[in-house]
Amino acid sequence: MNIVDTQEMYQHLRSKLEHVVPDFELKLKAEIAAEINQLKLEHNAIILGHNYMEPALFYSVPDFTGDSLELSRKAASTDKDVIVFCGVRFMAETAKILSPDKTILLPAKKAGCSLAESITAEDVRKLKVRFPDVPVITYVNTYADVKAESDICCTSGNAKAVVESFGTDTVIFLPDQYLARNVARETGKHIIFPSKLPKLDPDLDVQMIGWEGACEVHEQFTVDDIENARKQFAGIFVLAHPECPPEVCEAADFSGSTSAMVTAAHESGATRLLILTECAMGDNIAAQNPDKEIVRMCSIRCPHMNEITLEDTRESLKQARYVIDVPEDIRTRALAAVERMLAIGPSGEFKR
Ligand code: 13P
Ligand code: SF4
Repeated sequence: MNIVDTQEMYQHLRSKLEHVVPDFELKLKAEIAAEINQLKLEHNAIILGHNYMEPALFYSVPDFTGDSLELSRKAASTDKDVIVFCGVRFMAETAKILSPDKTILLPAKKAGCSLAESITAEDVRKLKVRFPDVPVITYVNTYADVKAESDICCTSGNAKAVVESFGTDTVIFLPDQYLARNVARETGKHIIFPSKLPKLDPDLDVQMIGWEGACEVHEQFTVDDIENARKQFAGIFVLAHPECPPEVCEAADFSGSTSAMVTAAHESGATRLLILTECAMGDNIAAQNPDKEIVRMCSIRCPHMNEITLEDTRESLKQARYVIDVPEDIRTRALAAVERMLAIGPSGEFKR
C-alpha cells in the first residue's frame, strides 16, 4: 500500500470502511496512514499486517496482510531493509529468524502472547529428556529459544500437515493444548499431558504429547456462545479458530487459520456469520462483505494485538523502535525449525 496523499488515503479508507468505521475517525486515521506510507518509502521499509489489526490500520499501511504462515513467507522473501511487523512479538521474532540482516521493528514494546509465555526452552529440554527421540513440533506462537529446541514449527494453517510429515506414531506438540487436541482429533491421535501423568503407562497408546498452554482469547469461547447465536440468528454460519477448545470447533461449521476463516467467510453462501476469534478480524471481514451480517463477540479481545496502533506504527518508523533481536546461536537453531516448516507448504484448513 503506497498512498502518501491524505485526501487519497481518506477516499481509499472510505471506499473500504464507510460501513464499519465512523467518518471522523477515517479522516483522522487517513492523515497518519499517509504519513506512515511516506516514512516507509524514506526508510526502504515494508509493513506486514496480521489479520487481527484494527480496520483503519489493516486497510491502509500493510504491504501484505495475512495469517502467521503467510506473513512468515513474506518476511523470508522481502528485499527491503526494514520490516515493521504489525502483529505480536513472536511474529516479529520469526521475521528476524528468517531475515537476520534486516531491521525488524515491532511498534509496541509489549505485544506478547499468552501461548508464547506458557512455555520455556528449559521446559522443552526436560520433555526431550523424558521422551527421547520423539520429534518436537512447536507452534510458531512461541519465543525463539523455544523454537530453537524444536525439530519443526507449525502454524494453525499447516499443523496437520506438519504432524503427518513425520510419519511417526508419537510426536510432542507444544504449547497450545487446544490446538493440540484439535490436531489430535484431525490426525486420529491419542493425546496425553505429562503434567497430569506422573508416570507413563507403558500400555498407553501415546501418540501426541501436549502442553497445557492456552490462548487467553480463544479459550473463552464456549459451545453455549454458539448455541445462543444459533437461537438468535437463524441460519448463522459459525467460524472458530483452532485455538478454541475442541468442543467449540466441533460445534462450529468451519475451523481454520485466520486467513482460512477470512476466505471461508467470503466464500460461504451464508448471509449471517459468527466469527469466534479476535474481534477486529470480524470488522475486517465485515468491511469485505457488506452484504453479510457479521456477528462478533467484542468483549473478548487480544490485549497484545490491540497494542499495535497507527500512531505507534508511525513512531516505530520515525524512531526505529522497537528493534527485535535474536541471539545468533538461538537464531540459527530456530531457523532450522522454521525452514523445515516452510518447506512443507500450506495445507489449508481443518474442516469438520
Ligand atoms: P493465525 O496463524 O491463524 O493467523 O493465528 C495467529 C494467532 O495468534 C491466532 O490467535
Ligand atoms: Fe496470542 Fe491468543 Fe493473542 Fe493470538 S489471540 S496473539 S494466540 S493471545
